[in-house]
Amino acid sequence: MSFDKIGVIDFGGQYAHLIATKVRRLNVYSEIRQPDDPIEKFRDYKGIIISGSPALSSFGEESDYNKDIYRLDIPILGFCFGHQEIAKYYGGKVINGGREWGETKFRILKRDHPLFEGLSEVESVFMSHNDSVVEIGEGFEELGVSFLSEGSEIHRYAAIGSDKYKRYGFQFHPEVDDTVNGERMIANFVFNICGCRPSWTMDEYIRLQFEKIRTTVKDGSVFLLVSGGVDSTVTAVILKNILGAGRLRLLHIDNGLMRKNESIKVVEMFKNMGFAESLHFVDASEEFLSRLKEVYDPEEKRRIIGDTFVEVFTREAKRLNIEDYLLGQGTIYPDTIETGGTRRADTIKTHHNRVPIIQKMIEEKRVVEPLAELYKAEVRELGKKLGISDELIYRHPFPGPGLGVRVLCSKGEIGEDIRELKSGVEEFLARYNLHGLILPIKSVGVKADLRSYERPVLINGEYNEKIFEIASDMLARIKGINRCIVNLSPYKISSARPRRAYITRERLDLLREIDEIVNNELKIEGFYERIWQCPVVIIPLTLNDRGEEMVVIRPVLSERGMTAKAAFLPTKLLKRITEKIQRFDRVSGVTIDITSKPPATIEWE
Ligand code: XMP
Repeated sequence: MSFDKIGVIDFGGQYAHLIATKVRRLNVYSEIRQPDDPIEKFRDYKGIIISGSPALSSFGEESDYNKDIYRLDIPILGFCFGHQEIAKYYGGKVINGGREWGETKFRILKRDHPLFEGLSEVESVFMSHNDSVVEIGEGFEELGVSFLSEGSEIHRYAAIGSDKYKRYGFQFHPEVDDTVNGERMIANFVFNICGCRPSWTMDEYIRLQFEKIRTTVKDGSVFLLVSGGVDSTVTAVILKNILGAGRLRLLHIDNGLMRKNESIKVVEMFKNMGFAESLHFVDASEEFLSRLKEVYDPEEKRRIIGDTFVEVFTREAKRLNIEDYLLGQGTIYPDTIETGGTRRADTIKTHHNRVPIIQKMIEEKRVVEPLAELYKAEVRELGKKLGISDELIYRHPFPGPGLGVRVLCSKGEIGEDIRELKSGVEEFLARYNLHGLILPIKSVGVKADLRSYERPVLINGEYNEKIFEIASDMLARIKGINRCIVNLSPYKISSARPRRAYITRERLDLLREIDEIVNNELKIEGFYERIWQCPVVIIPLTLNDRGEEMVVIRPVLSERGMTAKAAFLPTKLLKRITEKIQRFDRVSGVTIDITSKPPATIEWE
């Protein structure tokens, strides 16, 4: 059976692969293409979508792609960078400026256009750009404009198009969930403009994946690391279904960075799922912790955790005499994308299953990753199809480096001079009668597809919906900050002093206790199921000259982890959590993170 196909050109935008996933959801097959792929690869498509990019179209960056695509008689739609490239190619002009970021309003000027079928005059869309289209060429028309709120400045050419050439562009990102009707816009292009038939299904996708695994593994066996999270568990079940338990060895490593009693629970669970014979367990916590001694840099921590993992499992493989086995991994899409795995994507952070040694094994075709093209929601859908219990499927995602990225480290230095930044933040917050403190540490974030490593701001003020808006506005306006947290402690926090600290068992144990308190309370109140994840982070800060660790609670709503919104929790629940956490002598204060992703990431490092 032949399928109608949409090709997505990946210019390394953080969300490029989301486009393909969204098209597939419409039961239309979609695949990723590289910008310099030969033209033959594009001829079979019913339509082409050009992704966004960290590159700047105005400076001509990434402009050496295969422009022959524009000569094909196939509809093309561009998002963000793709939109600007289309405008430029057909005689328009792109400048560096007109930055828009976050939730924005989009007014459709040509409502009867098939691209906008079923949409309202004003739609809520997600913007993330530094360049803008300021002129369009002949044969093109302006299809929509954007603005922040009624009465504010109008940004022109938010959507452009030419029915003559069948070329269209959106300045915003319809592939991101924050563009409320983004899927409808993509569907309109795929069905109304390209004329695709919806004939491709998820079952078919799974069938193809199974075939792929059979071809890669041949008559070999697979060695799989299992953390107990949904990704590795679904991977284990798929591989068991394809290869049988006899050709599968599972290894669970306690890296010392797990949650309270987690390893015991994981081993128990796999035994109950019929893996008793194939499961091995090793406690390597001492080895991990000794390597992390005096390590302060987040990327360095990740590298060490990743490398130690590889060392431990290669040693175990040797001991078990299974070195010639292929390596199975529960890697999912975002892990690959954010590490720069899609060739052009800028590295936002290095995920442990993409460290150099594993990259080498991938090149040698010794790695099987049945979920590498799926997002979390799809992994869950697949897990359900495979009969895995809901309790397991709906466990919150837990990062590979575990609590290692939630125990922040510091050399105890104040860092660069921030006087100017400080007065900017203080002035901004004073307008709302709020008090803010720029913290003497940094956290990871993502802005316009690029990694940022900037300061968080602690706000002393009431935790309510209004403060979310104020924080988001401040982050959009002031450069040099990427995260806001609100003080939940029953006292004002007026000073923060960094303390020299790295990962130790003692700090991890404290975090484990606090993490358990938070998660239990969320479960009791029924919030656990409603949110995507709630990391708890400890930061070595002495506040108001007392205590050693500042606690941050980070509840987020998300669908794929690629973008996220800070979840609003009831104040009564937070009060109870805070009281319990404040009982630990070493805790200097309790705070809650209210930042969306972007500009912050979900984890702090
Ligand atoms: P960020 O912090 O990048 O997180 O917004 C997005 C999602 O990915 C998880 N995460 C990781 N998962 N290895 C992983 O396997 C990692 O190094 C890693 N870092 C973040 C994070 O928990 C969230 O669900």
